[in-house]
Amino acid sequence: MTGTGNEQARKTAEGLVYSSGFGNEHSSEAVPGALPVGRNSPQRAPLGLYAEQLSGSAFTEPRRHNRRSWLYRIRPSAAHPPFARANRGEIRSAPFTECLPDPNRLRWNPLPEPADPTDFVDGLWTLGGNGDATQRSGMAVHLYHANTSMDRRVFSDADGELLIVPERGGLLLRTEFGLLRAEPGHVALIPRGVRFRVELLDATARGYVCENYGRPFELPDLGPIGANGLANARDFLAPTAAYEDVEGPVEVLNKFGGNLWTATYGHSPLDVVAWHGSHLPYVYDLRRFNVIGSISYDHPDPSIFTVLTSPSDTPGLAGVDFVVFAPRWLVGEDTFRPPYFHRNVMTEYMGLIEGAYDAKAEGFVPGGGSLHNMMSAHGPDRETFERASAAELAPQKIDDGLAFMFETRWPLTLTAQARDAGHLQRGYDDVWQGLQRHFRP
Ligand SMILES: [Fe+2]
Repeated sequence: MTGTGNEQARKTAEGLVYSSGFGNEHSSEAVPGALPVGRNSPQRAPLGLYAEQLSGSAFTEPRRHNRRSWLYRIRPSAAHPPFARANRGEIRSAPFTECLPDPNRLRWNPLPEPADPTDFVDGLWTLGGNGDATQRSGMAVHLYHANTSMDRRVFSDADGELLIVPERGGLLLRTEFGLLRAEPGHVALIPRGVRFRVELLDATARGYVCENYGRPFELPDLGPIGANGLANARDFLAPTAAYEDVEGPVEVLNKFGGNLWTATYGHSPLDVVAWHGSHLPYVYDLRRFNVIGSISYDHPDPSIFTVLTSPSDTPGLAGVDFVVFAPRWLVGEDTFRPPYFHRNVMTEYMGLIEGAYDAKAEGFVPGGGSLHNMMSAHGPDRETFERASAAELAPQKIDDGLAFMFETRWPLTLTAQARDAGHLQRGYDDVWQGLQRHFRP
């Protein structure tokens, strides 16, 4: 994409209007009168549009989990030619069988620069995951790097929802529901099956994607925290309707059962003029996260930093949690303040959006990532341990970094390309080798 193209996308992204709230019913119409009143499927939908329901949950799931939207569009989605297998590039999917599950602690540098030109879909690179996409369980960790906008091409994922975490470069997401802007520090969610196109706001774009095959992300319960706090529902922003009335060839890529399938439509399928419902994309600014922590002693478990959770059938056990380590004050008395040494039945993949992380003095860089698989021992590096053990415990602001974690219930198995990657750091274990013996019986 040329600089002019980026400027055009940025100009478009600047004037966007959103609708706020999480998990509630939204409605929007790009043309007055396009949304039917009092019914979903009138005999003749307004303005000659087609009515179509998009179900994100089974019809009969409890209201709290039920997700569906009604779309009023120029042509129904059913009007398309057959799909054919497409090159999946570096996208892989669960079940992950290329490698053995690995108990080692692993860390990667950022992806190398992409070839020219690489758009968002071509730039997706799968690190690994768990579960089975066709069983709607588990998750995958992808990274992306791109240097051009998708052009006459849209993407949708039948296997799961996509939580996009930009680390470098802003994105303009043109979806069936309208437009979203996602800059580094924001996260964007594209629900299962929703078609979208990614345009770059800057010369390059890089970041992370959690593909969640399981139940859709929801806000965690707050328990004794009360009615407010953590990620507040009103800070989630849904798009307002915006449609493309474009005739001519548009490639539609569909991730289905772990593979990519392609069909060339004679029109843009981003042709939804009005919609209402609850199965829809959104963006959230991680800087809005209300960080809650100890004001007496001890480092709380990082579940206190959960932004979104994909529940399983077992209460409290997430298929995957999305957790953010945002700027915050540390005030604990007689407390080792960085994250503690830990072995976890859950698996932790961490990434860094900017700055530094308070448990790793070096080596964990923005755009990189670390994997601490189930039951692997991890924690602060030697320098962090020595410094924090000797620190004077005045109130301290942690404000130089934005890190996150995809924490998942099952071990994460790598792809061969992640295991063999040139940007895999060799010797990550050295981080913990210098820890001194202090025992004085
Ligand atoms: Fe941990």
